Amino acid sequence: MFTLLSRSNTLKRLASSYGMATPASFARRFIAGEQIDDAIEAARALQGRGLHLTLDYLGESVTTRDQATWATREYIRLIDDIVASNIERNVSLKLSQLGLAIDRATCVDNMRRILEPARQHEFFVRIDMEGSDYTEVTLEVFETLWNLEYRNIGVVLQSCLYRTERDLRRMNELSARVRLVKGAYREPAAVAYQQKEDVGAAYLRQMRVLIDHGTYPAFATHDVALLNEIKSYAAERGLARDKYEFQMLYGIRRDLQASYVADGYRMRIYVPFGREWFPYFMRRLGERPANVWFVIRAILGERRPGLVL
Ligand code: FDA
Repeated sequence: MFTLLSRSNTLKRLASSYGMATPASFARRFIAGEQIDDAIEAARALQGRGLHLTLDYLGESVTTRDQATWATREYIRLIDDIVASNIERNVSLKLSQLGLAIDRATCVDNMRRILEPARQHEFFVRIDMEGSDYTEVTLEVFETLWNLEYRNIGVVLQSCLYRTERDLRRMNELSARVRLVKGAYREPAAVAYQQKEDVGAAYLRQMRVLIDHGTYPAFATHDVALLNEIKSYAAERGLARDKYEFQMLYGIRRDLQASYVADGYRMRIYVPFGREWFPYFMRRLGERPANVWFVIRAILGERRPGLVL
């Protein structure tokens, strides 16, 4: 349902008017703001609390070369601004934002334009994973870039997909850095586990492979049962706390984020920002129906005239 709603233009217009208007607006809980400066300010506050971060300039499913070129330039500008502001040098991006849906060569060219300054300034660039139609091509573009000797890059694998165990071995053979997530996209039974328990069980199997054979793995989840298993398995295998990291999303389980830092774990926060925040925001609502009430309460609390829910 949320995937369908995320395509609704009326809802998008409504959310755009109310969601980001002031620092107190409801979408600001999950999105740092619309401008690079907003993200840098949020990043500074997180760093001040001992958290690591990765900045994501929101955007996806770009269909024209001009849009892909624009997004590429924005990422290059983001790199410059991060360098100037002296925050941690780590960004996340989506290949469909850089032209993957147009053609692979455009996307690879745009990635190279970003990776050159990123390498020069010692950034780490994480390529997010999108819906399963993009999985194979995303990994192939990643391998192309790896073969071009870019080593400051990492990928994301989704435990919900049946193919992930194979992909994990493929990435481990390269010694590539993997972020393991459950998967945020609605996928058919032909390619993905449908039951939450099966996705969790797959996550645990893949986590063990990453701890035993991976390169600085990142475990991105807010699921406390999984988090406890990861910590115990890493301790059992003698993997030091600086040889892997946890990752969580901006605004989600801030209590856990803080407690992990206090316990001496590395915790990286994914900080999304930018004008194209609506699809990302809808995925977060879809993950937790209680968030819908949070939004409705926030909108009613703002008491904007003329808004009918
Ligand atoms: P689960 O959904 O079971 O949630 C466990 C608990 O976490 C909930 O009970 C609740 O307390 C809290 N929680 C989770 N989501 C919440 C929300 N939206 N609002 C409030 N509380 C919430 N996916 C993908 O397909 N490609 C990608 O590249 C990435 N990248 C990525 C980076 C990082 C740093 C994170 C943390 C996540 C991603 N994801 C992703 C998203 C991921 O696939 C998944 O959809 C979410 O992390 C939610 O799943 P959990 O593992 O947290 O478990």
